[in-house]
Amino acid sequence: MSVESYYFMALEKYTVKTVKSDQSAGTKVNLVGFVHNIRKGKNNVFIMLRDPTGVIQCVSHAGDQSFSTASMVTRESSLEVSGTINKDDRADGGYELKIESIKIYGLAEPFPIKKGQSKVYLFRNRHLWMRGQKVTSVLKIRSTIFESIHEFFVKEHFYEIQSPIFVGSSVEGGSTLFELDYFGKKAFLSQSWQLYAEAEVNSLFRIYTVAPSFRAEKSKTRRHLTEFWHAEAEMAFTDNDELMDVEEKLIKHIVKRVLENNHDDLKRLNRDVSALKNTIDKPFPRLKYEEVIDIAKKNGLELTYTSDLGADEERVITSKMDVPVFATRYPKSLKAFYHKPDPSDPSHVLCNDLLAPEGYGEIIGAGQRIDDKETLLSRLKEEGLNEKDYEWYIDLRRYGSIPHSGFGLGVDRLVMWICKLPHIMYAVPFPRTPRWLMP
Ligand code: 4AD
Ligand code: MG
Repeated sequence: MSVESYYFMALEKYTVKTVKSDQSAGTKVNLVGFVHNIRKGKNNVFIMLRDPTGVIQCVSHAGDQSFSTASMVTRESSLEVSGTINKDDRADGGYELKIESIKIYGLAEPFPIKKGQSKVYLFRNRHLWMRGQKVTSVLKIRSTIFESIHEFFVKEHFYEIQSPIFVGSSVEGGSTLFELDYFGKKAFLSQSWQLYAEAEVNSLFRIYTVAPSFRAEKSKTRRHLTEFWHAEAEMAFTDNDELMDVEEKLIKHIVKRVLENNHDDLKRLNRDVSALKNTIDKPFPRLKYEEVIDIAKKNGLELTYTSDLGADEERVITSKMDVPVFATRYPKSLKAFYHKPDPSDPSHVLCNDLLAPEGYGEIIGAGQRIDDKETLLSRLKEEGLNEKDYEWYIDLRRYGSIPHSGFGLGVDRLVMWICKLPHIMYAVPFPRTPRWLMP
């Protein structure tokens, strides 16, 4: 059942989308929503009523019982409107509601959001701006994405399991750790569930979670948040290549669902969907790190075979691509301590980043984990990490270690790419960056 018809049943009210149909013409309905716009004349009041499913024109004529109430209504007031649906080609969308009665829930003061305001102003008023149709479309697509992530993992026989948010050691390096005082001890906000997942996977073999992760990112880029939603999976007896198969299947599933469910929303966002269609139809290329560097060099970047790939490099690499691409087997020095060295070339690790096309870059970080104690100890040392902080994690290699791999999908980044948004802040209901904490 679609959200749209559920909404209708739960409220025992119609939705705009359902009443804009030939079957509804001539029938009496009641709608609830906000005043998207209003035109008041001597003889008519036209109220454009908006709910999450669309906008419909509602009209009251002078002499109607509803006319005096309709004349009082202001933009963004909340209403219940009852009346008859008429097919009318002059109305936007082809249908009009002839108002019989109006109940005002909340009469709005002059609404502060208008056309042409700056982005900073709009984000300061995110709590009001989010009613807008474009923001609503992004939020609806975001909802489909979260729903389809759970749907995928359930279908693929994964168990859902949680990990703590207060943690005592870092996963992804100290520079982005949020530190806090935990009853006199130093604690951090989790950057990733991964270390805990590596224990949990020994119990359940195929696991996933969808949860917030935290990074004290000082870098101001269009793709970094301090709090982001992380869909992570861990799989026992799985190597880096098998891991990429699952990642590809997941992304294809999500994109397919969005194309099925959110046609109108993608259209409202003027999203050209060709890259999304390719994502479903074409295999994702799997390139070695060095091949990716070569592409970047051909496109004018000055890089070496030890350069890290950041937002700028990935934009150049993926701007001409029309399907996500895997960048695999990075030099060990560029990746976190837990990645398993490639047995055929231990200077590189068995990892993969999935880069979204159209200039978006990394949406997944993934890899096969070190499964042997000695290698882990030497990698901790190389990275200057304290063995004591990882005692329990080292235990996992002491007592029946297994080959295992996992990945983390940045859900907000995926929303950003699927909607083709200019900045990750647009992908999140209430984004958190070093600058934004309110609302
Ligand atoms: O590449 P990352 O750092 O990998 C990990 O955290 C692994 N421990 C995941 C795992 O294997 N379970 O982060 C994974 C993804 C990135 O590819 C990116 O999409 C997203 O998380 N991400 C961020 N999204 C928004 N803002 C940030 N500051 C992000 N940092 C990472
Ligand atoms: Mg990464």
